[in-house]
This record gives sequence, structure tokens and C-alpha cells, in this order.
Amino acid sequence: MTATLSDLVVVSNRLPIDVSVAADGSMTYRRSPGGLVAALQPVLSARSGAWIGWPGAPDFSFEPVRLDGILSIPVALTAEDIADYYEGFSNATLWPLYHDVITQPEYHREWHEAYRTVNAKFAEAAASSAAEGGTVWVHDYQLQLAPSMIKQLRPDVKVGFFNHIPFPPEALFAQLPWRREILMGLLGADLIGFQRAQDAGNFRSCVRRLTGLATRGHQILVRESDGSVRDVLSAAFPISIDSAAVDARARLPRVQARAREIRSELGNPDRILFGVDRLDYTKGIAHRLKAYEELLRERRLKVPGVVMVQVASPSRVGVSAYQTLRDDVETTVGRIAGDFGSLGSPAIHYLHQNQDADEMAALYLAADVMLVTALRDGMNLVAKEYVASRVDGRGALVLSEFAGAADELRHALLVNPHDIDGLKASILRAAAMTPKEQRRRMQALRRRVIENDVSRWASSFLDTLARR
Ligand code: F6P
Repeated sequence: MTATLSDLVVVSNRLPIDVSVAADGSMTYRRSPGGLVAALQPVLSARSGAWIGWPGAPDFSFEPVRLDGILSIPVALTAEDIADYYEGFSNATLWPLYHDVITQPEYHREWHEAYRTVNAKFAEAAASSAAEGGTVWVHDYQLQLAPSMIKQLRPDVKVGFFNHIPFPPEALFAQLPWRREILMGLLGADLIGFQRAQDAGNFRSCVRRLTGLATRGHQILVRESDGSVRDVLSAAFPISIDSAAVDARARLPRVQARAREIRSELGNPDRILFGVDRLDYTKGIAHRLKAYEELLRERRLKVPGVVMVQVASPSRVGVSAYQTLRDDVETTVGRIAGDFGSLGSPAIHYLHQNQDADEMAALYLAADVMLVTALRDGMNLVAKEYVASRVDGRGALVLSEFAGAADELRHALLVNPHDIDGLKASILRAAAMTPKEQRRRMQALRRRVIENDVSRWASSFLDTLARR
């Protein structure tokens, strides 16, 4: 065991810090941006907490480092681990399988072997870091075997698991050659959290049909090797954002000035349509572009009155489905720009780059219509960030009913992104929405996002786990 034991240990694929190495080998550490680490920081620092994760580069490690009260403990991965566990089993097997098989999942035994080995590495690090009777909280689909591995190594600790992405219906999950192992891996946890009630329901029916274990309401009755029965609770805990921080940033004079500047740099159009996503095939970027292109072709939207801004942050560039998606999106963007723009008045601005938090806030404030057209999404925090940024009560949110956020954000214009005509009608409706209707809807949306923020989400999960 490591010298410092922690009462609360978070385990996730990535560490919550960015590390840069200078030419002389010295390292500097910076907390990664993001709501999850911000939400967990107070509770982790109060409980001498630790966070176990991969530092994000091959064969890279360092001594555990404490930053803002969180001890970051790296799990080093080799280039082969990354290819097989991360790009392979996590992102070319599980990711498409859990997102409605939008692209075909690939099943390879060596990827599965690597997934098991890497999960064991994370589990061992967690087991050696947790204090007697402590809590270990495992995050996401990359680590579904870790809960039972941790429980075996450390039966004294409470184990929680939260799945950030959807959990598929049994008809799809049943394809997975290692389906029973994954379910039993998850069932090592005492509490299993999902984004939507639908995901928790899918999980319980997979358990009933594929393991033969009985469920009672939200509980699953797991028979242990000694014959005793342990009950595992599965339930929905919809994740959120650090709403107050997003709201506060949008009120900063420099951000408001930048929003005005963006509008004027875009030529002061009547309507700015905005999309921002990781460049992922689950986000429905192609569907959104198709709808926009048809509206321009039919002259129901006209440049320079309207302009679209699409920010696509680079993601999983080593996975072939992501390379194909990039080619497809960029071909369509090029066609839209070429067919409908003119010098000084482009129809679309496309950025394949990460934007910093101030620029994102300014873009949200400048966007008259926010387009979230995911084909399947665990939650979609962009939708919540847009709402929290609209401190002026303006703007219209077009939101896919296949994003978890649709359960809560009922005052958005909900769309089925596969229905291109329906999507076009919603874009037009959003673009024509009166300020009065924008305010009415945005007020209701904001109430929801401000009340249900990420720290409330974290405490609700951890309090439920503590009561198990
Ligand atoms: O939403 C799932 C998720 O894996 C998050 O945990 C993560 O922040 C995001 O997608 C980006 O993925 P990656 O870590 O593969 O870049």
C-alpha cells in the first residue's frame, strides 16, 4: 500500500491534471478544466482524496502529486495498451455498441484481453490507495471490470460506479462476446449510477436476461461465493455542470465584449447558428449540416442574414471511424462554404480546434440558435453550458431527444435528428423565435440547470453510496 491512504478515491480513465515536461525534464502540473474535477475538488480535499488515472501519453508516469487537495496517482499505459484498451476495446468496441451501434462495433479478443489487464492495473492502484473502510468511485465505460476487481482485493471498501455514457438495450448489448463478464464486473459496485432512468432499466434487464440474477425494484441481488446475498442499487443520477461558474464567466465584461466582437467579426448577421462538439459520430454533426445545407439551397435561410459556426474539437484521432467522420464533415463544410458563401460573407465557419473557456462563453452568448443534434448522448453538457451562459435570458436551444439532457430540458425545442425535415422546421422555428418566447423558455431551462448543478449531482451519488 502507498504511504498516504485516502478515504475517497476516484478512478477514471484520465487524470484530472495536465502535465507539461520542460526540456530539462522538470514537470509542471495544472488542474484540467471541467466540471467533474471542480465538483469533486471540495469533497476530495476534505477527505484527503486521491484520483487514479492515465496521464494521457504513452509510457509516461511520475510520482503521485497533490494539487488543490487532490492526490493524482498516474497509471502508466504503453503504446500497445493505448491501441488495444483505449482506442480498441473502449472506443471501437464499447463506444459504438453503447451508442446504438451508429457505427459497427469491432470485437477482437486481444482488445478484450488488454481491457482486462488495464482494468486490473487501475483496480490494483485503487486497492492500494484506499483507507480502511473508505470509498472508491469508479467512472465510465473504460473501467467496467474494475469494480469487482477492487471489491475482491478490498472487501472492506464501498465501491461506486458511474457510467457517463448510455447503457444499451439488451438486444444490442447481447452482441458483446464478453457481456456476462462486463455485467459481473459492474456488479462488484454497491451503487451503479447512470445518466437516465432508461439506462438503469436497460442495465437491469441485461442483468436479468444474461446473468440470471434477480432484481427487486432498483436492486440487484448478487449471490457471493460464500452463499451470502449482496444487494446492488442501480439508479439514475443525471450529471450536470458547475452552473454558477459558467453563469459567472458569462457575466464578465471581457466575455460580453468578446461576444459583441464575435458578432461583428461575423458581419453582424441576423442569426448565428452554433454547434460545438467533440468530433464524434454520435453528435449528429452531419445531420445538422445536411439540414442547414438544404435550408440554404431552398433559400429558406439566406447568407449573409444567417451564418453557422461549428466548433469540432479533435478527438480519438487514432480510431478509424473518427478519421472517416472528419473527412465527411469537412467535405460537407467545404461544399456549404463554396456553394453559399461569398467574399467577406461565409455561410459557415468551421474550427477543428479546442477553444478556451472565455471564448466558449462568448460564443454561447453570441449564438442565437444552439444546435445539439446528438444521435445518442449520455447527457450532453454543451446544452447545459449554453443555458447557464445565457444570463441575458435570450437564445434558443434545439436539442436532440436522444441526449440525456432532453429528460430535464423540456423547454428546449426537442428534435429527432434523423428526421431532417423535422430538424429543418425546428431550426427555422428557433431562428424565428420572438424575444418573449426565448425568455420564457430560457428562464425555465435556467432554473433547472442552476438548481441541478454538478456538486448536487456528486453529493447525491456519494450520499446514496454512503447509505448502502
Ligand atoms: O463522455 C465520455 C468520455 O469518455 C468522457 O469521460 C471524456 O471526457 C470524453 O468522453 C472524451 O473522451 P476521451 O477521454 O476519449 O478523449
